Amino acid sequence: MNRKIMIGAALPYANGSLHLGHVAGLIGADVLARYFRLKGDSVLFVSGSDCHGTPILFEAEKQKTHPSVIAEKYHREFVETLIDGMDFSYDFFTKTTSDVHRETVQDIFLKLYEKNDIYKKTERLPYCKKCKKFLPDRYIEGKCYLCNFTSARGDQCDGCGSLMETKKIIDPKCKICESSPLWKDAEHFFLRLSGFEKKLKKMVKESSGWRINARNFTEKLLHQGLHDRSITRDTEWGISVPLRGYESKKIYVWFEAVCAYLSASKEWSLLKKRNWEDFWKNKDAIHYYVHGKDNIPFHSVIWPAILLGYGDLHLPDKIISSEYLTLEKKQFSKSRNWAIWLSDFLEDFDSETLRYYLIANGSENSDADFSWEEFSSKINSELIGNFGNYVYRTLSFIEKNYKDGVVFPENPDESSSSFLKLAEDSFPLVASSIEKGHLRKGLQAVFKLVDYGNRYINDKEPWSTVKSDPQRAERDLAVAAHVIKCLAVLISPFLPETSQKICNQMNTSPDNLKWIYPSPEKVSVKKTNPLYKKIDEEEVKKQLSLLKK
Ligand code: 2FM
Ligand code: ZN
Repeated sequence: MNRKIMIGAALPYANGSLHLGHVAGLIGADVLARYFRLKGDSVLFVSGSDCHGTPILFEAEKQKTHPSVIAEKYHREFVETLIDGMDFSYDFFTKTTSDVHRETVQDIFLKLYEKNDIYKKTERLPYCKKCKKFLPDRYIEGKCYLCNFTSARGDQCDGCGSLMETKKIIDPKCKICESSPLWKDAEHFFLRLSGFEKKLKKMVKESSGWRINARNFTEKLLHQGLHDRSITRDTEWGISVPLRGYESKKIYVWFEAVCAYLSASKEWSLLKKRNWEDFWKNKDAIHYYVHGKDNIPFHSVIWPAILLGYGDLHLPDKIISSEYLTLEKKQFSKSRNWAIWLSDFLEDFDSETLRYYLIANGSENSDADFSWEEFSSKINSELIGNFGNYVYRTLSFIEKNYKDGVVFPENPDESSSSFLKLAEDSFPLVASSIEKGHLRKGLQAVFKLVDYGNRYINDKEPWSTVKSDPQRAERDLAVAAHVIKCLAVLISPFLPETSQKICNQMNTSPDNLKWIYPSPEKVSVKKTNPLYKKIDEEEVKKQLSLLKK
């Protein structure tokens, strides 16, 4: 069955480098994309750099440069670290400063305006007398009126995750000069979210396969009732309102960033001479959205409302929102420099080790933690001691003792048959976990097969039978090697380079992998090598001391 799968991974803000916490929220998107491609479906996996909004303005003011310089610098860094470094297999990675994006956003804005889903209204907004400007959301900080968190921002509270009505924030302050803002009349454009409430409720009710955090949070918002939201700002940086007389107003960053899933699809279409409509104007397509939990309302309420307003475009199907990753049990923090930057990590370690750790330790249902001790112990004992060991001990033994390869037995014995059955059953099992966004469970199922493999080799003792009964040794090793062929497929969405290395050692091309149980055949092996390098204790100590500097 050839399905059309659109996968949208959150666009990171191009205002700073990425740390491991960012990767934790995005890695699932790449696993999904790689899996569906192996399955033979058509995949459109898009993301990009979120280049507008106050975070970039802040950084530009700090570095005394133009926001476009900041956006470009980090966009390049994202390409280097996510695509080249982490092997994320985006079909298109855009930036929200692109022409196609601007045209797409302005077209959506106009259409919604014509349909009266966007309307003009005068409202009182915070204005800083000292800085002589209206203060966009993130320039306001104060106490959350829902949970009392003391550093709620104008648009969202990081304490309880709720969207904020700036007016209600207790004791608001200008973030630049810390003075209390005045409230002045200003004309702005509003998205009539209240008008979409009924349709959104229906969408949520009929949906399946949302992570529980996304479902609970969205149901709570819909239950509380949706308020219309202002979607323009008085700022110099962003996409202009496409109406005469209002060009100096910019479209709110969240309104336009979510539109990037569509604009990136259009750019991909132009570049690859493919049809974005196959994915977006197709009721049978499946759309996945992958991001961290602070992004939930924008993907589960605002983006669907925009799509409903525009009409004729596919709504989100699966919302895969991750909880947070902490670092040594404390929140990642750029300002306190409590972070492991992705570019630093990739200089010292294999990206596969990070992919493994972040999926195996995934923050799927609750926050997860990155600790250097746990990282090295998981990599050394599970990835190397279990997976790497099974593959290397089996393949290197075959290489050494069976120069012409090993032939699969016509009648495998009972224990071999159970092993092969487990391998065959792993395909639908892992597939169903991945499709549901349960990546950790999927990876666990792969490792169950590896555990069995190590026990199989221990029981079969080919190192003794190679002398006492070489034919039996060959049969057992052929079975073990066949399971490694299965593993090359099963591990591929999670650890693509590992899969590639296995294929190279087994004389098969990684390009021919398919998500089906392979038919057994003669296996020959060449140039075997351990798959990974052990992480030694000194390295862990070094990293810990760097962190605590
Ligand atoms: O949280 C963030 O980093 C946002 N820049 C995510 C945007 S996702 C999508 F809407 F573009
Ligand atoms: Zn001020």
